[in-house]
Amino acid sequence: MQSQQSIRAAFGSFAVLVVFIAVLSACDMTNTSTTMGVTTTSGNVTIAQIFETAKQTSGYTWYKKSDALIGKTAKSGHSEPFMRTRYNSTAAQMLDASGKVKEGSVFAEGSIITKELINADKSVNGYALLIKRKADPNADADGWVWGYVTATGAERHSLTSKGNGCIGCHSIAGHIDRTLMNVSVP
Ligand code: HEC
Repeated sequence: MQSQQSIRAAFGSFAVLVVFIAVLSACDMTNTSTTMGVTTTSGNVTIAQIFETAKQTSGYTWYKKSDALIGKTAKSGHSEPFMRTRYNSTAAQMLDASGKVKEGSVFAEGSIITKELINADKSVNGYALLIKRKADPNADADGWVWGYVTATGAERHSLTSKGNGCIGCHSIAGHIDRTLMNVSVP
């Protein structure tokens, strides 16, 4: 009797494990398009993916290698008093030893640059992202996808506008592949 019970228990755990593995692999298949950040999968990145990506900090390098909050500059295109910018490992290949963007850089496919927009109380109020993703239907002529979301993931600027409303500012003298940190925080 007891051994029958333990066989049943063992089978029960096995069944649970099988279901667990099945769920895991199903997640894995849907992850790339729904819950995780930007991937190399073809198609367009969604606002939800941009939001997930915005919150990822692992493997990123801060501009000038400092996570200190930077006061909004005269040229900043947002209302929050502070900001700071980080680069994923692909984008960080364009940073020099001091953590500034090298002159003449053209960011490679897969580059992600995230600007945190920060309130007076130091909480994050939103994120502006540049994602190099040339085949994305929402990429501009340079291959950048322009993402702008609130701290809770709501779209703050139309993704499908392909950076219309962003690019004008980001084309001022001294821009490097449309990026401006070097211009306003030299
Ligand atoms: C009024 C001009 C202006 C507008 C409009 C603007 N930006 Fe910016 N942006 C800047 C400046 C200047 C910087 C450099 C940091 C700073 O001074 O705030 C910057 C920095 C950034 C960065 C960090 C990378 C870098 O070096 O440029 C990202 C990402 C970014 N902006 C995204 C956006 C997006 C997305 C939009 C449109 C929704 C946008 N910006 C609209 C002026 C602007």
